[in-house]
Amino acid sequence: MHLLSLFCGPGGLDEGFREAGFKTDIAFDVDQDCVSTFAANHPDSKVFRRDISKLSPATIDELNESPLRVSGVVGGPPCQSFSVSNVHQTDDDPRHSLPAAYANLLKRLNKQRPLSFFVFENVPGLLGVKHRHRYDHFKSLFSDAGFEIFENTLDARNFGVPQVRPRVFIVGLNRTLHPEAVWNWPKPEVRIRTVRETIEPLPAPVFNRRGLDPSSPDVHPNHWCMVPRSKKFQTKGALIEGQSWGRSFRTLAWDQPSWTVAYGNREVHVHPSGSRRLSIYEAMLLKSFPKSYVLKGHISAQTRLVSEAVAPRMAWHLAVALRRCLGI
Ligand SMILES: C[S@@+](CC[C@H](N)C(=O)[O-])C[C@H]1O[C@@H](n2cnc3c(N)ncnc32)[C@H](O)[C@@H]1O
Repeated sequence: MHLLSLFCGPGGLDEGFREAGFKTDIAFDVDQDCVSTFAANHPDSKVFRRDISKLSPATIDELNESPLRVSGVVGGPPCQSFSVSNVHQTDDDPRHSLPAAYANLLKRLNKQRPLSFFVFENVPGLLGVKHRHRYDHFKSLFSDAGFEIFENTLDARNFGVPQVRPRVFIVGLNRTLHPEAVWNWPKPEVRIRTVRETIEPLPAPVFNRRGLDPSSPDVHPNHWCMVPRSKKFQTKGALIEGQSWGRSFRTLAWDQPSWTVAYGNREVHVHPSGSRRLSIYEAMLLKSFPKSYVLKGHISAQTRLVSEAVAPRMAWHLAVALRRCLGI
């Protein structure tokens, strides 16, 4: 089954779908680091740096070098403007209109060549009082595009991801193509995965420094962390496993899933040892990325990309549920 990916980011959503047997034919994101990361990890897909609000079916065909033939569209527009942890939300944030751009493109594509399904992902903040009217509007646009809408909030920790990460998912099934389809949300996995089993066996990361080349064969290119400059890292008992010291010093507990990986201001979680912050690679594994996945870009880009990605294992569960629902 072939996919079009919008707001593809570093490709977490696409990775989960790929592991379930789907193939992303073409993907779009406005950010160059996302495009480079996607290209490096999905060499069989085309990926372009484009603004989705300016994308048309004709442009997609042109970039694809043939008329696009995909069964589904996946995408999670930027969520910072709806996130409760963003204290600088404004009513006129231009990012508010991106889910509508997604729905409009979906409608135009579906008119020209019917799509079986779409998947939309975002933060639960979209369901809050402040944004509920927007959420209801987006849903009506998705429905108007020709899809039966199913919505749910799923927490990645229940789906094999060693991380607490509740997210809103909308799955749309084409009303005309699949009038009898019965949608069932994926069932939680029995076991909750922990920080310990995910990152304890790793060797120590290298510390970030100018000109760092973490290319030694036993170190993953993203297995670097910030130099622990704060005195808290040197003071015994200052950073206690499982406890937070404001937003900036949240120390993970070994035998729990991680808190949500969403690092503002490079406030990467503190390693359970309390001696340093996590490496980017550790954060990627706590998001269920495969060991071979590599994030491109400079330090802040890697920190942003690992925060924004959908957990691939969560996406895999949705992809498998879609296969089952559509009888693939
Ligand atoms: C939440 S992230 C997507 C994460 C992705 N689904 C994944 O699993 O890795 C949202 C993405 O939207 C991109 N973006 C923001 N505005 C955009 C626009 N106007 N057009 C295209 N992409 C945009 C951002 O660069 C970011 O990568």
